[in-house]
Amino acid sequence: MSDNNHIESVLNENRLFSPSERAKKEATVNAEQLAALHAEAGADHVAFWSRLAQEKLQWSKPFTVGLDDSKAPHYRWFTDGELNVSVNCLDRHLDERGDKTAIIFEGEPGDVQKYTYHELHGAVCRLANALKLQGVETGDRVVIYMPMIPEAVIAMQACARIGAIHSIVFGGFSAEALKDRVEDAQAKLIITADGGHRGGRVVELKKSVDLALEKGCNTVRKVLVCKRTAHDIFMKEGRDLWWHEAEAGMSNYCEPVMVNAEHPLFLLYTSGSTGKPKGIVHSSAGYLLGTHMSNEWIFDLKDDDVFWCTADVGWITGHSYVAYGPLSCGATILMFEGAPTIPHTGRFWEVCQNHGVTVFYTAPTAIRALMKFGDDVPKQYDLSKLRLLGSVGEPINPEAWMWYHTVIGQERCPIVDTWWQTETGAHMIAPFPGATALKPGSCTQPLPGIFAEIVDEEGNLITADNQGGYLVISKPWPSMLRTIWGDDARYVSTYYEKFNNKYYIVGDSAFRDADGYYWILGRVDDVLNVSGHRLGTMEVESALVAHPKVAEAAVVGRPHDVKGEAIVAFVVLNSERPTGAERDAIITELKAWVGEQIGPIAKPDEIRFGDNLPKTRSGKIMRRLLRTLAKGEEITQDTSTLEDATILKQLAEK
Ligand code: PRX
Repeated sequence: MSDNNHIESVLNENRLFSPSERAKKEATVNAEQLAALHAEAGADHVAFWSRLAQEKLQWSKPFTVGLDDSKAPHYRWFTDGELNVSVNCLDRHLDERGDKTAIIFEGEPGDVQKYTYHELHGAVCRLANALKLQGVETGDRVVIYMPMIPEAVIAMQACARIGAIHSIVFGGFSAEALKDRVEDAQAKLIITADGGHRGGRVVELKKSVDLALEKGCNTVRKVLVCKRTAHDIFMKEGRDLWWHEAEAGMSNYCEPVMVNAEHPLFLLYTSGSTGKPKGIVHSSAGYLLGTHMSNEWIFDLKDDDVFWCTADVGWITGHSYVAYGPLSCGATILMFEGAPTIPHTGRFWEVCQNHGVTVFYTAPTAIRALMKFGDDVPKQYDLSKLRLLGSVGEPINPEAWMWYHTVIGQERCPIVDTWWQTETGAHMIAPFPGATALKPGSCTQPLPGIFAEIVDEEGNLITADNQGGYLVISKPWPSMLRTIWGDDARYVSTYYEKFNNKYYIVGDSAFRDADGYYWILGRVDDVLNVSGHRLGTMEVESALVAHPKVAEAAVVGRPHDVKGEAIVAFVVLNSERPTGAERDAIITELKAWVGEQIGPIAKPDEIRFGDNLPKTRSGKIMRRLLRTLAKGEEITQDTSTLEDATILKQLAEK
């Protein structure tokens, strides 16, 4: 499973960037303090996290139990405590920071809007009151399908205020994907917008909601629609209502519902190695603690920072580093609706300049895409306010790291490469900007209170340096997922069973170097990482085989210099292998179909046809061969077990 070539190539990277004197001085946590945190956590990690939970969160009922592992691997933290997440993100700042800007928003068309903490609190309360009036109760599921506008955060916080469980569906997902998620969560209400601006176009969100509701979603009673693009949309009498009308006349205060620490704050669907996405369940207190601490430790947020995390709220990064963590720290966040290159290739840097962004967090795919336009583009903008840069979503290649460091950070800003997942809720392996020396391409070392190991196929610890294996987490941590919505058995089988419930199994392979630094090699399961987004190969295959012309499909990833991975689909049709214009037409049709079934991000980059797929005599598809073919490489593997080796030639044809 571990890829030796890859290990060698990243190991050639031996540059070390120690924190600057300035970073050391300014950071809240210096090297000695970090060592003390590690020592404290190492001695008793439950006591460590409990101390932080007491100090950093506001409880309405303090907890007495740190960790309850009586139903392991269903771990529970701070189990007898009660709090409200929106109180922790908003109310607690009102006295000291009520007039401080909480959100700076810039829309793709260039419109700017700001909310102080006081205004944000009022908006959240009004919506929470409106949701209650529409019959939403504590524990009900609310699906949010919104563009990247402040109302998305307001919707999340309003749900948290009344203990409703939100489930955000990324605005780039199709009506079909939305329907599946709404049905799995059995949502009572959907919050959406007429549309959003993205890539110079209007994304018609309400239209997708209408389509999803036409196809099913029988639990949905109401649809709340925020006016963003103001284009004409259909509003169904009795079901659909405008946000601004629903909140009109509502009080600026809504009594928060205090919930148990373990009350689910949200579900977020993510891809796994089957065709059906999993609803990852996060808790209230443990999740909030993880996001709070990582914003404080890794982004080292200060009162005068302007923090821009470019992730959409549809992904976990937008939950932890837009909607919850930074607000719980009382920070100013920037939200941007649009695409990085619309209307020009300097848009990201222009936004940084115009709003004085100090901490900037994005994905390697964006860095690589922007790097292609050359150094002259960012050089036109004043980026002198930036003090810290972050990276997330996939390993950052040293070349992109160096560009980010020299051209964007002007060799002044530490780069925090943060490894974590939807399931982990918050950063797990990442540097402390004032304490950790950086190595381009490594996410460095686990946070205090996080215990990572590398194990072999049998689950034995690998202690040797530079030897690849499964990355696992050996002790529970507060912001970990609690289960898969409605499927406890799948939770155990996906994350724990392989090694007898001893470790949380991440699904990535990694190795540790002689300095104890972790290097992530990629997924070990059939999960692709396309532009920092997770997509299951099975999910794309299920979409393809649902097309009436398709008999069989296999999907693999191929390295891509901007997206990380590109999707290559091998397809067997119910009819003969197509050629010429007919072939081109089917390719277009199938790509559009996958876009409709899942969303544009899942459209295969390439589709190839064969009379069959390469299978063993027992009928197993040999994906390894398909990966080689997708890369355009010669097959050197043994093909003697193949049922019919001649189809390899067909599938090699582009
Ligand atoms: O493979 C790892 C990769 O992204 C996966 C998690 O994807 P998702 O749940 O969508 O969350 C993405 C944002 C946290 C991981 O299993 N990954 C994420 N961050 C990094 C990474 N790989 C290497 N380095 C990272 N910094």
